[in-house]
Amino acid sequence: MKIAPSILSADFAALGEAIARVESAGADLLHVDVMDGHFVPNLTIGPPVIESIRKRTRLPLDVHLMIEEPERWVETYVQAGADYVTVHVEACAHLQRALSSIREAGARSGAALNPSTPPEVLQYVLDDLDLVLVMSVNPGFGGQSFIPTAYEKIRRVRQMLGPREALISVDGGVQSDNAARLAQAGAGVLVAGSSVFGTPDPGAAVAGLRSASEVPISA
Ligand code: DX5
Ligand code: ZN
Repeated sequence: MKIAPSILSADFAALGEAIARVESAGADLLHVDVMDGHFVPNLTIGPPVIESIRKRTRLPLDVHLMIEEPERWVETYVQAGADYVTVHVEACAHLQRALSSIREAGARSGAALNPSTPPEVLQYVLDDLDLVLVMSVNPGFGGQSFIPTAYEKIRRVRQMLGPREALISVDGGVQSDNAARLAQAGAGVLVAGSSVFGTPDPGAAVAGLRSASEVPISA
């Protein structure tokens, strides 16, 4: 299981320190939420902040674009240092083109599904995907409650991917009490914001999530 702390819940004025804590605790990816105030009702950060983060960490940057017309920005975010670029299927008129352009720019391609979006929309782009991001909250804010239909969606995406190696990532309301079930459903990446950076010891929270995800659960 890969653990991807989401910096959305960190103190933006002390970002370097927050990142160092989760990196030394063994985080696998750093999840960076980009919001434009249109696709989602919130605004966060853009390319200059990602460039600064890139200089401060060796962790792969998992950039989650919650923006309209993300294909216009792919190149910019890859140049800023994104290793994974994830676009929302609901924001793309030409999803296949967007995913190919991420790979052509030199990054790994991801598609995100809002809670109400059926996974079948990915049917004809399965070979263009390095990651599928199953949203388990409606995107826009940290600290929301987990929507349990994500379990079934993860299982369905796993089935659709078949032998392909694309990762399934889950984002929203992830904490140690749902980590094992998410792992069992087929998630390979747990994105966690408030359950990591909203705690006094983000490093311990990363370790706690990882061990919680490894607890066997009966069927
Ligand atoms: C929400 C973002 C998430 C957010 C998750 O739109 O995509 O990455 O940071 O926060 P938590 O883990 O607090 O639900
Ligand atoms: Zn996110």
